[in-house]
Amino acid sequence: MRLAALEEAPYAFGSTYQREVGFDGARWRWCVTDRVIYVAEVDGVVVGAVSGVDGEVNGSAAMIAMWVDPRFRRQGVGDVLVKTVMEWARGKRYGQMFLWVTEVNAGAERLYARNGFVRTGATQEVRPGELEHEMSRLL
Ligand SMILES: CC(C)(COP(=O)(O)OP(=O)(O)OC[C@H]1O[C@@H](n2cnc3c(N)ncnc32)[C@H](O)[C@@H]1OP(=O)(O)O)[C@@H](O)C(=O)NCCC(=O)NCCS
Repeated sequence: MRLAALEEAPYAFGSTYQREVGFDGARWRWCVTDRVIYVAEVDGVVVGAVSGVDGEVNGSAAMIAMWVDPRFRRQGVGDVLVKTVMEWARGKRYGQMFLWVTEVNAGAERLYARNGFVRTGATQEVRPGELEHEMSRLL
């Protein structure tokens, strides 16, 4: 699913398909040790995923690696994933959640804004000449 996401939506992520397609089994296993991953299923088919990790700010969590299969978009799957990872963070007693969204990804930013996230004002270059914006919300 991660490789499908990187291949399908390269504009949305800091990493690339070319970088991760070479990961070996040990590296993939390592990738699932430091985060929680929720997958969304429709009729038993996995159609999307999101991850939650420790944030950089003390007491905060971060939402990363959000992706929904294009065939299942605009049906509220993304919304369920955002709400689910926020519930996980609340359950772990995190007080705030952060995420990064690329400047070209207006659809994802709307999804996050609808769920209470606002831009913090922090930006970073995700690719030469392309910025991503940090968003956050209190939990
Ligand atoms: C961003 C992304 C996760 C959204 O997933 P999604 O499942 O389509 O999200 P939702 O269905 O909850 O919301 C998307 C839109 O569908 C609308 N929608 C939700 N349910 C709907 C329904 N039943 N009928 C019609 N529209 C609906 C929402 O209002 C929203 O509209 P908007 O784009 O005008 O704001 C998805 O587009 C994606 O994977 N993009 C590529 C990867 C990516 O950008 N990841 C985020 C990295 S930060």
